[in-house]
Amino acid sequence: MSVTRDEVITALDRVLDPELHRSIVALGMVGAVEVDGPRVAITIKLTVAGCPLKAEIQRRVSEAVAALPGVEGVQVGLDTMTDEERAGVRESIIGGPRRDSPFTPDARTRVILVSSGKGGVGKSSVTCNLAVALAAQGHSVGLLDADVYGYSIPRMMGATQQPVMLDDLIIPVESHGVRLMSIGFMTADDNPVIWRGPMLHKALTSFVTEVFWDDPDVLLVDLPPGTGDVALSLAQLLPAAQVLVVTTPQLTAQRVARRAAAMASRVELPVLGVIENMSWFVAPDTGARYEVFSGGGGQALAADLGVPLLGQVPLESDVARAGDEGLPVVAARPDSPAARALADISAHVGRAAGIQRASGIPLAAG
Ligand SMILES: Nc1ncnc2c1ncn2[C@@H]1O[C@H](COP(=O)(O)OP(=O)(O)OP(=O)(O)O)[C@@H](O)[C@H]1O
Ligand SMILES: [Mg+2]
Repeated sequence: MSVTRDEVITALDRVLDPELHRSIVALGMVGAVEVDGPRVAITIKLTVAGCPLKAEIQRRVSEAVAALPGVEGVQVGLDTMTDEERAGVRESIIGGPRRDSPFTPDARTRVILVSSGKGGVGKSSVTCNLAVALAAQGHSVGLLDADVYGYSIPRMMGATQQPVMLDDLIIPVESHGVRLMSIGFMTADDNPVIWRGPMLHKALTSFVTEVFWDDPDVLLVDLPPGTGDVALSLAQLLPAAQVLVVTTPQLTAQRVARRAAAMASRVELPVLGVIENMSWFVAPDTGARYEVFSGGGGQALAADLGVPLLGQVPLESDVARAGDEGLPVVAARPDSPAARALADISAHVGRAAGIQRASGIPLAAG
């Protein structure tokens, strides 16, 4: 009994494009399908010639077809779409031109801005870990690096490839199950970015409106330290956002963090809660616990703002090392105390922000 062409198409319909998370049949990526007894030859049309995920697409296709009864050999050839076909793909995922922010107050995506009063408190590390932890809990997660001056998300997430353009639509880079966008993908390394007000707003606008975020359950936004232009722009673009404030236990950090909260109230965004980072250090040899920075800043700030303290993250070399290696600690060393604290915090944040899981949308492709 040999396989039919229809059976092959049905199997291919279940194969999702790893970037767009849609059926490759629905996206028009399936070209010629030839069935010759037990042998099947398929041509896949890639959206762009140098598609970084072509090997993964080939693997998914050949696995899906090889699993069909009566199939003994699968050959997957690659081709590239014409401009017209590519425009069709763009049309099928967005449905016409879209220039407005998809993150309206009635959208299902919960938008969370992660802020801090001063730099270096671990805001980006916390944001990456929350993103990866929420993705591991089965959520679809977007992560926008709005720190246009000191972007660090690509490095911390181990994302080195550039985003693919589909017509005028930017396809975010996916890493550890999180969809990322950062100015760091667009500029050569070590080139400081100098932004003037209108340009800054334009760049942030395109990151919100021209990126195929695909209505994730949650969009986390890593803000630059302090208050300022970026937060003001984003508050306009993301009117339903809620704010998380990261601080360290030090009283000065806490005082500065209050300014971040003041920024939130100026732009009329609610503060969801406070996360205290670098709360204590446990000596690996003796197990003794040290409050490196005099304690209590997170709790004091939370009480001050009338919001919950969502958790405390210990100071751990694993957090820094994993960040440098491009694999956030919740994924690299999930059993470490810092990773556990961050996973707990992500669950708290999920509940506090009311993050919903989309039903019927496949979370893990393949
Ligand atoms: N809990 C922690 N334990 C150990 N190291 C940490 C921890 N949190 C953050 N770090 C390290 O502290 C440094 C600053 O962290 P990070 O870049 O996340 O801070 P930030 O607030 O985003 O800084 P910036 O203001 O520059 O954007 C990094 O080297 C990071 O690896
Ligand atoms: Mg940062």
